[in-house]
Amino acid sequence: MSLTFESWRLKARDLLIKGVPPNQTYWDESPSLFSFEETALFAPVPHPKVPKEFMELAEAVACARDPERWALLYRLLFRLNHENQNLLNIVVDEDVHKAKLLAKSVRHDIHKMHAFVRFKKADIDGVETYVAWHKPEHLILPLASPFFVRRFGDKPWSIFTPDGSAHWNLQSLSFSEGMPQNEFDHEDPFDEVWKTYYRSIFNPARLKIKMMKAEMSPKYWSSLPETEIIHELIRNTPKRLQDMAEAPRFKAEVPKTSSWEELRTAALSCKACPIAQQANHTVFGEGPLQADLMIVGEQPGDEEDLAGKVFIGPAGQILSQALALAGIDRESIYVTNAVKHFKWTQGTESKARIHKKASGAEMHACKPWLESEIALVKPKVILALGVTAGTALYGRLVQIQSERNKVNTSSAFAKSLTISWHPSAILRAFNDDDREQKMKDLVEDLKKAHHLSQT
Ligand code: URA
Repeated sequence: MSLTFESWRLKARDLLIKGVPPNQTYWDESPSLFSFEETALFAPVPHPKVPKEFMELAEAVACARDPERWALLYRLLFRLNHENQNLLNIVVDEDVHKAKLLAKSVRHDIHKMHAFVRFKKADIDGVETYVAWHKPEHLILPLASPFFVRRFGDKPWSIFTPDGSAHWNLQSLSFSEGMPQNEFDHEDPFDEVWKTYYRSIFNPARLKIKMMKAEMSPKYWSSLPETEIIHELIRNTPKRLQDMAEAPRFKAEVPKTSSWEELRTAALSCKACPIAQQANHTVFGEGPLQADLMIVGEQPGDEEDLAGKVFIGPAGQILSQALALAGIDRESIYVTNAVKHFKWTQGTESKARIHKKASGAEMHACKPWLESEIALVKPKVILALGVTAGTALYGRLVQIQSERNKVNTSSAFAKSLTISWHPSAILRAFNDDDREQKMKDLVEDLKKAHHLSQT
């Protein structure tokens, strides 16, 4: 039997009451080996003070695989009572620092155990029992086990580790000796369930082997059924990525019609991608259907989403100013977006809806609406504003600074395709000079695009 937190607590309390200083105590894993010298005692502490914060820290530190932990805890307890009641707030104190580091490592280990224990079905003495083997870094079984009672309390289970085992019989939790991995030999159909599940959640587009090893450390792999298939999944990643690229997950269904009203009405109920769920309105394009110039932005913002109208918020005002400076009547051009719904996330400090960039898949899903608008309006010139519109129209990632002066004459969408800064890049400019320059560029690009559309 090794020393438990409870037996340490009782011993430590006894020593503290007697006034035994830490340097006269000797702690060992075995309670019987604990000893102290009864000389040079400090003043007795008849009513030891044990702050709640210390108890929480001590409970975790007691699980650390560190032979010094019991002595460290007693030193802290003694110093809290004789030296400074606020000792735990002094993070640069060597004892406090070490205890906090150990507690952090133990909590991390508990988190990993909760994530990586995999039960297998077994018949133990005629009782259907769920069993698992796990190798934690620290001695965390007592602290980590109540989680499994809460989570899997409706089935009897046992968790075996090299240092000890925990058993739940539907009524109480008990602990016994540990078990080495080679004695734990259970194969069951449950393994296949885990593998199937893992295959289904494995996303090759997110494959980062380094991160995977950090999250699911290879030291746990031997007890996880799904790790048998990790190498197979990694090998197949390039092929699956290609398949994913060729088979986009969602795509808007656009009616075959030459009526703009019908198109817009159909777009209003589009639910092809998840952004639709969080938006108030589908914001379709607006402007004369005979326009020679089409401007394509990114996606509606907060105000556009509430009103269902394109480019009316702060970015819309910048666009209107730039058009006015370029001498272009906004009513004469068709203005739309690459993505028709507002994608947003809740601000952490305010209730504001913060703009979030649409993913490639969402942009792809929405593209049929843009294509149908272009097919209907047949503009001579399209001016893309910003990277998202550029990507949708050029079919590749664009660099605005280096491409804004070039006219693409081989686009399938219009005779001339050009690009410029998105008005929000002007709103978010680094400084006044940057803002002024980008506004100047936008006005110049609008003028050129307009001129091209008139020729
Ligand atoms: N930004 C855009 O790209 N489009 C809008 O309609 C509004 C803001």
